[in-house]
Amino acid sequence: MGHASSQGNPCVLVTGGAGFIGSHTTVELLEKGYQAVVVDNLSNSSEKVFERIRQIVGDKADKLSFYQADVADRAALDAIFDENPITHVIHFAGLKAVGESVSKPIEYYANNLGTTMNLLEVMRSHACKSIIFSSSSTVYGDPDELPLTELSPKKNATNPYGWTKWMIEQILSDVCVADPEFNVVLLRYFNPIGAHPSGLIGEDPKGIPNNLVPYVAQVAVGKRDCVHVFGNDYPTSDGTGVRDYIHVMDLAQGHVAALEWMDGKTGCEIFNLGTGTGSSVLEIITAFSEACGQELPYQIDPRRDGDIAENYANCDKAEQEMGWKAQFDISDMCRDSWNWQSHNPSGYEG
Ligand SMILES: NC(=O)c1ccc[n+]([C@@H]2O[C@H](COP(=O)([O-])OP(=O)(O)OC[C@H]3O[C@@H](n4cnc5c(N)ncnc54)[C@H](O)[C@@H]3O)[C@@H](O)[C@H]2O)c1
Repeated sequence: MGHASSQGNPCVLVTGGAGFIGSHTTVELLEKGYQAVVVDNLSNSSEKVFERIRQIVGDKADKLSFYQADVADRAALDAIFDENPITHVIHFAGLKAVGESVSKPIEYYANNLGTTMNLLEVMRSHACKSIIFSSSSTVYGDPDELPLTELSPKKNATNPYGWTKWMIEQILSDVCVADPEFNVVLLRYFNPIGAHPSGLIGEDPKGIPNNLVPYVAQVAVGKRDCVHVFGNDYPTSDGTGVRDYIHVMDLAQGHVAALEWMDGKTGCEIFNLGTGTGSSVLEIITAFSEACGQELPYQIDPRRDGDIAENYANCDKAEQEMGWKAQFDISDMCRDSWNWQSHNPSGYEG
């Protein structure tokens, strides 16, 4: 793909834009008239996503370009900045499997920190100083109080993946102290699920899914036998873990809202992106069973190390400052996940 046509629309570099959240955000950017320059090394995604994005956005795909490159590759990133009038960066690229990060800490620190440091150096040398970073509710650790606000304390991470989010937040906030022209938004996502309502793009995990909903979806299409529920003795309504699930389309819109909000500002700001409502594992299995029209089997297994009982967000700040609020509920999320999974049982390669 060549470089994006420049027609005066703000040009956004989307690192990791072939992935789950990045592809949905790229669709939203294009729909809103932004130019989107995606850089992704396809280590956890497929180039086929771009055909699907084109089907969704039609002619607006003229403003999309894709570079297959590693964000840690200085020469490649320099060339991308030379060829495109990038004014903002949304930084999704990273490794994200919590369990794998425990067994591969060197790879996780090297990739997640290495990409970020290279990106910041190249941004600075091209006088691009606006960046939105994909952080995570994992930085709150095991909370003392719920719901979590942006003022809730950061706690020790329980795995290398979580530490990379923790450290990159710190690095970006230090950069803002050192350079008052830098403009950073840290978006702390809760648990993104769902898919584009067209069913053309969605989450396509490689191997055994790490997260609940992709696993449930694979049980629903018969790829896996039953859902494993890790622990039913937590101090929650039904004993299973409670999380704040958010529709990936709401999350994508949250990035566009953040881009608009940050225009002309400097400094570092944090926003939670969730719904404010917690759902238990069993509630998700029930909602997905309703979406797919069959009772999904599950079994109770022991708790997993590092899992917390419950978390959910207070998202008032995002609503008050950016005018953003999640629109979709759990049944919408399960309906759209099922629509994607049932039409693409083997993901993009199917
Ligand atoms: N999905 C979640 O539950 C969740 C929750 C909180 C935060 N996040 C963060 O949001 C971001 C996006 O998550 P996602 O679920 O879309 O993951 P994903 O794996 O689908 O997308 C990440 C993309 O980054 C690419 N990538 C990884 N390393 C790269 C590198 N060195 N150079 C270029 N591309 C690289 C991958 O190929 C992939 O396409 C990640 O930073 C993740 O940690 C995700």
